[in-house]
Amino acid sequence: MATILLTGGTGMIGTYLQQYLTGKGYDVIVLIRDKTRLQQKPINPKITYAGWNIDDGFIDKNAIAKADYIINLAGAGVADKRWTNKRKKEIVESRTKSCELIAQALKEMTNQVKVVISASAIGWYGNDGDNNKTGFTEDAPAANDFLGVTCNQWENSIKPVEKLYKRLCIFRLGIVFSKSGGALEEFKKPMKRGFAAILGNGKQVISWIHIDDLCRMFLFALEHENMKGVYNAVSPKPVTNKSLTIQLAKQLRNKFFIPVHVPSFILKIMLGEMSIEVLKSATVNCDKIKKAGFTFLYPSVEAALENLNKK
Ligand SMILES: NC(=O)c1ccc[n+]([C@@H]2O[C@H](COP(=O)([O-])OP(=O)(O)OC[C@H]3O[C@@H](n4cnc5c(N)ncnc54)[C@H](OP(=O)(O)O)[C@@H]3O)[C@@H](O)[C@H]2O)c1
Repeated sequence: MATILLTGGTGMIGTYLQQYLTGKGYDVIVLIRDKTRLQQKPINPKITYAGWNIDDGFIDKNAIAKADYIINLAGAGVADKRWTNKRKKEIVESRTKSCELIAQALKEMTNQVKVVISASAIGWYGNDGDNNKTGFTEDAPAANDFLGVTCNQWENSIKPVEKLYKRLCIFRLGIVFSKSGGALEEFKKPMKRGFAAILGNGKQVISWIHIDDLCRMFLFALEHENMKGVYNAVSPKPVTNKSLTIQLAKQLRNKFFIPVHVPSFILKIMLGEMSIEVLKSATVNCDKIKKAGFTFLYPSVEAALENLNKK
């Protein structure tokens, strides 16, 4: 069976994706930065670890030689820390330098890699205008805000692999809903105390995707040779912040919750510049991946939450 080299494979999406891909019969090499973790042996016999060091420009030659496909998820967490100038630099460079290193390795090292799938984000797009009923399509220009500029640099830094005659797919990921970690866990936190915290006026649209659909989408792109270029990785039914919060609270607490609005100015004080993203309305269109033949297991947020909240 073919081998997939996975970067950022220890993160929220990567941890899930490793198991999904090995379940489908693939061997997975997880490229990791942490040297102590490299000494550990994964429990799953179809997973191995290999090392890379982005700052030193090092990448394990054998891992590159064995890979048939690469999935690149690496990047410092966008919502993990306040956006100081230092953190912003880390967010950008952890992505651009890792993409540059992958492209360089594919140029200089012997390899048989056929496809590279690289993550980007719907942070590419700006705020919904008055006329965004059908949602942003992949040809919309990048926003001028921090995430728009970051995604633009991120995508540009992986594009050189196309010149090496490799098939490149870039996935602009929506907010990924998973059982553990990520945005959904943040939404659930106030609900443990009985509050459904609606952010700002709650009308902002969230374009999201269930982690199972995202993993299926990665595999779909690997296995379909006609796919290349940029794809929005979002479900067909985006949801407003208010609707998501209330549906989640109903599922978790039945009737026993109090909806509260967290005003925008409080979010600005709490989160600084990152509050732009929390308050931003981004309706993103998934027609391109649907036209490629992909079908969603969880097109609606009701079904997705029901599945993810199952014990
Ligand atoms: N989750 C979402 O809702 C969402 C939405 C849009 C886009 N994305 C993008 O999808 C990718 C994966 O998301 P995720 O939620 O799984 O992220 P995550 O949990 O933060 O994991 C990202 C992984 O990237 C690696 N990493 C962390 N800091 C790094 C640095 N400074 N330099 C290089 N690599 C670093 C780490 O792997 P190692 O320690 O093993 O190297 C980490 O496990 C990210 O690039 C993210 O921006 C995610």
